[in-house]
Amino acid sequence: MAARIFPKKLGVNIDHVATLRQARRGCEPSVCRAALEAESAGADGITIHLREDRRHIQDFDLKEIRRAIHVPLNLEMAFVPEMIETALAAKPGKICLVPERRRELTTEGGLDARAIEQKLKKAMPSFRRAGIEVSLFIDPDTAQIHSAKCAGADAVEFHTGTYAHARGGAQRKQRLRIARAAQLAASLGLKVNAGHGLDYENIKALARIPQIEEFNIGHSIVSRAVFTGLARAVRDMKRLITGRGR
Ligand code: PXP
Repeated sequence: MAARIFPKKLGVNIDHVATLRQARRGCEPSVCRAALEAESAGADGITIHLREDRRHIQDFDLKEIRRAIHVPLNLEMAFVPEMIETALAAKPGKICLVPERRRELTTEGGLDARAIEQKLKKAMPSFRRAGIEVSLFIDPDTAQIHSAKCAGADAVEFHTGTYAHARGGAQRKQRLRIARAAQLAASLGLKVNAGHGLDYENIKALARIPQIEEFNIGHSIVSRAVFTGLARAVRDMKRLITGRGR
Protein backbone atom coordinates (compact mmCIF):
# COMPACT_ATOMS: atom_id res chain seq x y z
CA MET A 1 0.00 0.00 0.00
CA ALA A 2 1.35 3.46 -0.92
CA ALA A 3 2.29 5.66 2.06
CA ARG A 4 -0.09 8.49 2.82
CA ILE A 5 1.59 11.76 1.90
CA PHE A 6 1.05 14.49 4.46
CA PRO A 7 1.05 18.15 3.38
CA LYS A 8 4.26 19.58 4.80
CA LYS A 9 4.20 22.35 7.39
CA LEU A 10 6.91 24.70 8.56
CA GLY A 11 7.29 25.67 12.20
CA VAL A 12 9.66 28.62 12.50
CA ASN A 13 11.78 28.60 15.64
CA ILE A 14 12.57 32.20 16.64
CA ASP A 15 14.77 31.51 19.68
CA HIS A 16 17.75 33.14 18.00
CA VAL A 17 15.94 36.42 17.52
CA ALA A 18 15.74 36.38 21.32
CA THR A 19 19.44 35.40 21.53
CA LEU A 20 20.27 38.62 19.70
CA ARG A 21 17.99 40.72 21.92
CA GLN A 22 19.41 39.15 25.10
CA ALA A 23 22.94 40.05 24.00
CA ARG A 24 22.05 43.60 25.12
CA ARG A 25 19.14 42.75 27.44
CA GLY A 26 17.07 45.40 25.63
CA CYS A 27 13.98 45.16 23.48
CA GLU A 28 15.50 44.92 20.00
CA PRO A 29 14.95 42.96 17.88
CA SER A 30 11.33 42.34 18.88
CA VAL A 31 10.70 38.60 19.17
CA CYS A 32 6.96 39.11 18.90
CA ARG A 33 7.37 41.06 15.66
CA ALA A 34 9.54 38.24 14.31
CA ALA A 35 6.74 35.78 15.12
CA LEU A 36 4.21 37.93 13.29
CA GLU A 37 6.48 38.43 10.26
CA ALA A 38 7.17 34.70 10.05
CA GLU A 39 3.44 34.04 10.23
CA SER A 40 2.71 36.54 7.44
CA ALA A 41 5.42 34.97 5.30
CA GLY A 42 3.79 31.55 5.50
CA ALA A 43 4.98 29.87 8.70
CA ASP A 44 2.42 27.26 9.74
CA GLY A 45 3.49 27.54 13.35
CA ILE A 46 5.85 29.42 15.64
CA THR A 47 8.20 27.51 17.91
CA ILE A 48 9.94 28.86 21.00
CA HIS A 49 12.06 27.09 23.61
CA LEU A 50 11.63 28.50 27.10
CA ARG A 51 14.79 27.13 28.66
CA GLU A 52 15.20 26.74 32.39
CA ASP A 53 18.16 29.15 32.29
CA ARG A 54 16.13 31.68 30.21
CA ARG A 55 19.11 32.24 27.96
CA HIS A 56 16.98 33.48 25.05
CA ILE A 57 13.18 33.27 25.22
CA GLN A 58 11.71 34.91 28.35
CA ASP A 59 8.40 34.29 30.13
CA PHE A 60 6.94 37.52 28.74
CA ASP A 61 7.73 36.38 25.18
CA LEU A 62 5.57 33.34 25.73
CA LYS A 63 2.64 35.46 26.89
CA GLU A 64 3.04 38.10 24.15
CA ILE A 65 3.47 35.66 21.28
CA ARG A 66 0.63 33.46 22.53
CA ARG A 67 -1.68 36.49 22.36
CA ALA A 68 -0.39 37.90 19.06
CA ILE A 69 -0.21 35.02 16.58
CA HIS A 70 -2.97 33.10 14.85
CA VAL A 71 -1.04 29.98 13.86
CA PRO A 72 -0.31 27.36 16.56
CA LEU A 73 2.39 28.13 19.10
CA ASN A 74 4.71 25.20 19.84
CA LEU A 75 6.47 25.52 23.21
CA GLU A 76 9.62 23.44 23.57
CA MET A 77 10.31 22.71 27.23
CA ALA A 78 12.01 20.43 29.69
CA PHE A 79 9.81 17.88 31.44
CA VAL A 80 10.15 19.46 34.89
CA PRO A 81 7.45 20.73 37.32
CA GLU A 82 8.17 24.46 36.76
CA MET A 83 7.79 24.18 33.00
CA ILE A 84 4.76 21.91 33.21
CA GLU A 85 3.05 24.53 35.38
CA THR A 86 4.02 27.29 32.94
CA ALA A 87 2.65 25.35 29.96
CA LEU A 88 -0.62 24.49 31.69
CA ALA A 89 -1.13 28.18 32.53
CA ALA A 90 -0.13 29.53 29.08
CA LYS A 91 -1.93 26.81 27.10
CA PRO A 92 0.09 26.94 23.87
CA GLY A 93 -1.45 24.83 21.10
CA LYS A 94 1.41 22.36 21.33
CA ILE A 95 4.34 21.48 23.51
CA CYS A 96 7.44 19.53 22.59
CA LEU A 97 9.23 17.89 25.51
CA VAL A 98 13.00 18.07 25.12
CA PRO A 99 15.98 17.06 27.23
CA GLU A 100 17.82 20.04 28.64
CA ARG A 101 21.33 20.39 29.96
CA ARG A 102 22.54 23.70 31.33
CA ARG A 103 25.94 23.67 29.67
CA GLU A 104 24.85 22.58 26.19
CA LEU A 105 24.93 25.05 23.29
CA THR A 106 21.68 23.65 21.93
CA THR A 107 19.51 20.57 22.45
CA GLU A 108 21.91 17.66 22.08
CA GLY A 109 20.21 14.33 21.47
CA GLY A 110 16.66 13.25 22.02
CA LEU A 111 14.61 12.68 25.15
CA ASP A 112 14.97 9.21 26.69
CA ALA A 113 11.23 8.48 26.55
CA ARG A 114 11.83 4.87 27.61
CA ALA A 115 13.37 5.92 30.90
CA ILE A 116 10.50 8.25 31.82
CA GLU A 117 7.60 6.50 30.09
CA GLN A 118 5.51 6.08 33.26
CA LYS A 119 6.08 9.68 34.40
CA LEU A 120 5.07 10.92 30.95
CA LYS A 121 1.96 8.74 31.00
CA LYS A 122 0.89 10.28 34.32
CA ALA A 123 1.30 13.84 33.01
CA MET A 124 -0.59 13.34 29.73
CA PRO A 125 -4.16 13.75 31.09
CA SER A 126 -3.44 17.25 32.43
CA PHE A 127 -2.04 18.34 29.06
CA ARG A 128 -5.03 16.78 27.33
CA ARG A 129 -7.48 18.60 29.63
CA ALA A 130 -5.72 21.88 28.77
CA GLY A 131 -6.13 21.14 25.04
CA ILE A 132 -2.38 20.91 24.47
CA GLU A 133 -0.96 18.57 21.83
CA VAL A 134 2.13 16.78 23.17
CA SER A 135 5.14 15.88 21.10
CA LEU A 136 8.30 14.13 22.30
CA PHE A 137 11.66 15.12 20.83
CA ILE A 138 13.32 11.73 20.38
CA ASP A 139 16.03 10.10 18.33
CA PRO A 140 14.61 8.12 15.39
CA ASP A 141 14.82 4.80 17.30
CA THR A 142 12.28 1.99 17.42
CA ALA A 143 12.24 1.64 21.21
CA GLN A 144 11.80 5.38 21.72
CA ILE A 145 8.91 5.49 19.26
CA HIS A 146 7.12 2.63 21.05
CA SER A 147 7.63 4.37 24.39
CA ALA A 148 6.21 7.63 22.99
CA LYS A 149 3.14 5.71 21.88
CA CYS A 150 2.77 3.90 25.23
CA ALA A 151 3.17 7.17 27.12
CA GLY A 152 0.22 8.61 25.18
CA ALA A 153 2.01 11.28 23.15
CA ASP A 154 0.20 12.76 20.15
CA ALA A 155 3.35 13.27 18.12
CA VAL A 156 7.06 12.64 17.92
CA GLU A 157 9.67 15.05 16.65
CA PHE A 158 12.75 13.28 15.37
CA HIS A 159 16.08 14.82 16.28
CA THR A 160 17.72 15.34 12.91
CA GLY A 161 21.07 16.56 14.26
CA THR A 162 23.01 13.40 13.40
CA TYR A 163 21.59 13.49 9.84
CA ALA A 164 22.40 17.20 9.51
CA HIS A 165 26.02 16.80 10.60
CA ALA A 166 26.72 13.67 8.50
CA ARG A 167 27.97 13.82 4.92
CA GLY A 168 27.74 11.60 1.81
CA GLY A 169 26.91 7.93 2.44
CA ALA A 170 26.67 8.47 6.20
CA GLN A 171 24.03 11.13 5.63
CA ARG A 172 22.07 8.89 3.27
CA LYS A 173 22.14 6.20 5.95
CA GLN A 174 20.77 8.65 8.52
CA ARG A 175 18.03 9.70 6.10
CA LEU A 176 17.00 6.06 5.71
CA ARG A 177 16.96 5.70 9.49
CA ILE A 178 14.62 8.70 9.76
CA ALA A 179 12.42 7.45 6.90
CA ARG A 180 11.99 4.04 8.57
CA ALA A 181 11.29 5.63 11.94
CA ALA A 182 8.71 7.94 10.32
CA GLN A 183 7.00 4.93 8.76
CA LEU A 184 6.82 3.14 12.10
CA ALA A 185 5.59 6.18 14.04
CA ALA A 186 2.88 6.95 11.48
CA SER A 187 1.75 3.31 11.48
CA LEU A 188 1.23 3.61 15.25
CA GLY A 189 -0.92 6.71 14.72
CA LEU A 190 1.66 9.23 15.89
CA LYS A 191 2.05 12.52 14.10
CA VAL A 192 5.60 12.82 12.78
CA ASN A 193 7.65 16.00 13.00
CA ALA A 194 11.38 16.60 12.57
CA GLY A 195 13.89 19.24 13.44
CA HIS A 196 17.36 20.33 14.49
CA GLY A 197 20.25 21.42 12.30
CA LEU A 198 18.10 21.57 9.16
CA ASP A 199 19.14 24.06 6.50
CA TYR A 200 18.32 25.07 2.93
CA GLU A 201 20.31 22.12 1.52
CA ASN A 202 19.79 19.19 3.85
CA ILE A 203 16.02 19.81 4.09
CA LYS A 204 15.52 18.71 0.47
CA ALA A 205 16.00 14.97 1.05
CA LEU A 206 13.93 14.94 4.25
CA ALA A 207 11.08 16.87 2.63
CA ARG A 208 10.51 13.83 0.42
CA ILE A 209 9.70 11.53 3.36
CA PRO A 210 5.92 11.11 3.04
CA GLN A 211 5.04 10.65 6.72
CA ILE A 212 6.75 13.77 8.06
CA GLU A 213 4.11 16.46 8.61
CA GLU A 214 6.07 19.30 10.14
CA PHE A 215 9.62 20.61 10.24
CA ASN A 216 10.73 22.90 13.05
CA ILE A 217 13.61 25.04 11.85
CA GLY A 218 15.34 27.95 13.54
CA HIS A 219 19.03 28.66 13.22
CA SER A 220 19.35 28.47 9.43
CA ILE A 221 16.26 30.65 8.88
CA VAL A 222 17.33 33.34 11.35
CA SER A 223 20.88 33.24 9.90
CA ARG A 224 19.60 33.76 6.36
CA ALA A 225 17.30 36.51 7.59
CA VAL A 226 20.34 38.64 8.48
CA PHE A 227 20.96 38.99 4.74
CA THR A 228 17.53 38.60 3.14
CA GLY A 229 15.09 39.67 5.82
CA LEU A 230 12.97 37.21 7.77
CA ALA A 231 10.00 37.09 5.41
CA ARG A 232 12.14 36.04 2.46
CA ALA A 233 14.05 33.49 4.56
CA VAL A 234 10.76 31.91 5.69
CA ARG A 235 9.30 31.89 2.17
CA ASP A 236 12.46 30.25 0.74
CA MET A 237 12.31 27.45 3.32
CA LYS A 238 8.58 26.95 2.91
CA ARG A 239 9.08 26.55 -0.83
CA LEU A 240 11.67 23.83 -0.25
CA ILE A 241 9.54 21.82 2.15
CA THR A 242 6.30 22.03 0.20
CA GLY A 243 8.02 21.57 -3.17
CA ARG A 244 5.98 24.42 -4.58
CA GLY A 245 7.69 26.95 -6.83
CA ARG A 246 11.05 25.13 -6.73
N1 PXP B 1 13.31 21.20 17.34
C1 PXP B 1 13.73 21.14 18.62
C2 PXP B 1 13.02 20.22 19.55
C3 PXP B 1 14.79 21.95 19.08
O1 PXP B 1 15.20 21.86 20.37
C4 PXP B 1 15.41 22.84 18.18
C5 PXP B 1 16.51 23.73 18.67
O2 PXP B 1 16.00 24.63 19.58
C6 PXP B 1 14.92 22.89 16.87
C7 PXP B 1 13.89 22.04 16.47
C8 PXP B 1 15.48 23.85 15.86
O3 PXP B 1 16.80 23.55 15.60
P1 PXP B 1 17.67 24.53 14.68
O4 PXP B 1 17.73 25.85 15.38
O5 PXP B 1 18.98 23.85 14.56
O6 PXP B 1 16.93 24.65 13.36
